[in-house]
Amino acid sequence: MQDPLRHICDDELERRWIWISLVMAFVAGSLLGVYAVSGNLHPPSNVESIDSSRLHLTEEFAEDNLGVKENADGSLTVTMVAARYGFFPPVIEVPADTMVTFRIASADVLHGVHVPNTNMSTMIVPGYVSEVTTAFPAAGKYAFLCNEYCGLGHDSMWSRLIVVPRSAQMSTGGQQS
Ligand code: CUA
Repeated sequence: MQDPLRHICDDELERRWIWISLVMAFVAGSLLGVYAVSGNLHPPSNVESIDSSRLHLTEEFAEDNLGVKENADGSLTVTMVAARYGFFPPVIEVPADTMVTFRIASADVLHGVHVPNTNMSTMIVPGYVSEVTTAFPAAGKYAFLCNEYCGLGHDSMWSRLIVVPRSAQMSTGGQQS
C-alpha cells in the first residue's frame, strides 16, 4: 500500500517517525477518553455567580447554614465555603451510594477541590458557585484537597470527607431542611 504521507515527505525514516508520533498522540487521546468515560468524569457545568465578598450575608453560605442537608428525595446537599486556608465546615460526613450535590463558593481567591480515588474534582472560582453532583460508592475517610495554588498555606488546605456505610446512622452534621 502506498504510504499516504509520501506526497508530503520523501524521506522513509522521517515518515516512519511521523507515523510513530501520530500513533502516540492517538493512543494518549484514546486513553484520556477511556479514563473519562470509565471514571464517569464530567466537566463541571453549573454557571451561577455570587458576590464572594458578601458570602456571609447570603442565606445559603452564611456560617450557620453550611454543611450537609437532606433533601426531600433522600439526596444530600453539602454547602461549603473555601477560603484561605481551609474548607468550611472542616469535616463532612455523608453516606455511601447516595447522591450528594456539593455547592461550594470561594470567599477569596481561586481554589480547587479534589478527592483522591473518586470523581469529585472541581475548581472553585471566586464569584461563582461550583456545583458537583456525585455519589461515593466506597465507605472510608477521604482527604478533601485544595488543588489550585492559592497562597503560602495551600499545602495545608484540606478537609476530611467521611463516607459511612449506607446502613450506618449518620452521627454528625445532618441538618434537615
Ligand atoms: Cu486553596 Cu490551594
